[in-house]
Amino acid sequence: MIPLTIGTTVDFPDRPAVIDASRFNRHTFWCGQSGSGKTYALGVVLEQLLLETALSIAVLDPNADFVKLSHTRTEADPTVRKRFADMDIRVFHSSTPNEPQLHARYIELSVRSQAAVGRLDPIQDGEEYNALLHLDKTPGSFDKQRFLDALFNSEDPARRRLGMRIDNLEILNWPLWAFGGASAVDTVNERPRMTVLDVGGFAHVAEPQTAALCILEHLWQHRMDKKPILIVLDEAHNFCPPVPHNSVEAQLTQQLIQIAAEGRKFGLWLFLSTQRPTKIHPNVLSQCDNLGLMRMNSPRDLAEIADVFGFVPQHLLDRSPKFRKGEALFAGAFSDEPQFVRIGRRLTAEGGSDLSVEPRTAGSGRV
Ligand SMILES: Nc1ncnc2c1ncn2[C@@H]1O[C@H](COP(=O)(O)OP(=O)(O)OP(=O)(O)O)[C@@H](O)[C@H]1O
Ligand SMILES: [Mg+2]
Repeated sequence: MIPLTIGTTVDFPDRPAVIDASRFNRHTFWCGQSGSGKTYALGVVLEQLLLETALSIAVLDPNADFVKLSHTRTEADPTVRKRFADMDIRVFHSSTPNEPQLHARYIELSVRSQAAVGRLDPIQDGEEYNALLHLDKTPGSFDKQRFLDALFNSEDPARRRLGMRIDNLEILNWPLWAFGGASAVDTVNERPRMTVLDVGGFAHVAEPQTAALCILEHLWQHRMDKKPILIVLDEAHNFCPPVPHNSVEAQLTQQLIQIAAEGRKFGLWLFLSTQRPTKIHPNVLSQCDNLGLMRMNSPRDLAEIADVFGFVPQHLLDRSPKFRKGEALFAGAFSDEPQFVRIGRRLTAEGGSDLSVEPRTAGSGRV
């Protein structure tokens, strides 16, 4: 057992609440309604995992909530501050112009996923798909205009149509692409203590998912290396919904289903957070062994949790609608017994905490 103190117990406030970090070698599900404290609690757990284990962590962060994980609060213990300062935490940005920006290489994707970015189906769009399959994709420097010109001027009509498609969808304008430059995938592959991938700043709807797909496909392709990593997906419904909305989401969901089902023995461990259990693909949800449940009002959602996490007694789940912010039920492999926890204070800065409603000031009313 590797004990992680994550707060105090709700029923005995002077008793520390402890979970077993060694059980993050399986998949974890974090759930609660908006504002219940999921992201905050996730931050507390990640801080403790950084301090008490050697586990490498990659965070797919849709709201730039974890970009300040290496900035300790001034009130934190000086030894803890020093340890965080010495930690190898890499942050890739998209929500702000801060460097380094989050980039990945198109050619790192599988052909299926490359096609999904262009909304190409291997059967319905057979000729264009085939043209893409046989494009020269050797790594190196890349010139957008030269690439498009070569397609537009090709003798092969399928290649010309492929060029038109890429141009019309403006795929080459995605800020995500590394175009032969450094890719965040290389960093994740090095397994620093933590890689934070801020995917919240992209304008194109499929870009955050494509970024996730680049990382996850790479991890899956190299699973035989057996280099453990905890893959954290906040707002996980954006990555593996029950019904995918586009071709990239479909690829990503399939990849996550595969990791959920078979990744555990290769050291690919998921940590998924979302507001409602039904917003996650059931084949991913059903593979989770650890549960962190925050406040949840909806009886329907609680019934779903009871159904999937049959090891949690119903009368414990029934307390969830009465939880205050920062209170949670922890159950499953990482908690000896189910326990009610009041989450402790964060040691590091929150990236994107809630905005507040400002009171009216003199002169701000309508005239
Ligand atoms: N245990 C806590 N102690 C202090 N502040 C907290 C705690 N939990 C949450 N908060 C604050 O409450 C607000 C909402 O919390 P958080 O962002 O974690 O909610 P959430 O469940 O992730 O919501 P959403 O589903 O909308 O992302 C934040 O401003 C956060 O700082
Ligand atoms: Mg959140």
